[in-house]
Amino acid sequence: MKQDPRFPNLFILNHPLIQHKLSHMREHDTSTRTFRELLREITLLMGYEITRDLPLTTRVVKTPLVTIDAPVIAGKKLAIVPILRAGIGMSDGLLELVPSARVGHIGVFRDPDTHEPVEYLVRLPDTNERTFILCDPMVATGNSAVHAVDVLKKRGVPSEQILFLALVAAPEGVEVFQKAHPDVKVYVASLDSHLNEDAYIIPGLGDAGDRIFGTK
Ligand code: URA
Repeated sequence: MKQDPRFPNLFILNHPLIQHKLSHMREHDTSTRTFRELLREITLLMGYEITRDLPLTTRVVKTPLVTIDAPVIAGKKLAIVPILRAGIGMSDGLLELVPSARVGHIGVFRDPDTHEPVEYLVRLPDTNERTFILCDPMVATGNSAVHAVDVLKKRGVPSEQILFLALVAAPEGVEVFQKAHPDVKVYVASLDSHLNEDAYIIPGLGDAGDRIFGTK
């Protein structure tokens, strides 16, 4: 895991497998099917890393030979919350890792002129004492990410119970996010160079939603 001195709340998961798969995803000619599959695989690898500090408790387990206090994840089931629509490409992978997780949805689209987030759907499991993993492959302007965390905080989820998982981030977006939510950790596979004038991440991978769903 790598850090950038500018962004104390950003963690870059630079595992060679993650980096290799991301390079393949960036390629213009990678098919929808392969893109989706690679995103799923990367999400599994990233999910493994970001759940490393989940608290454990024990439960009595009878093996065929003895009874032990065996470690199990403490507390309520995790909540996975994709930011629609591209976040769904990551929530599927996370659900494979944590099949009993609850799933919420936050629907936000980017106004094409202002690039500001416009909310059209929020459905969440009960927020009391639950860890939330928000996911969206791209942190570009950072506005949708800030908005999604606002939604959770307004419902009383404490910042230490929120993790934000993305694939690629632009420094501009991370800066916006960090100013709004310096207390929420963001995990990415890459911190890219910059945003272009259309708010696309450079080098990036294009429009993640279009590449996941095969739309234009
Ligand atoms: N910016 C990008 O570069 N890609 C997206 O999918 C969204 C914003």
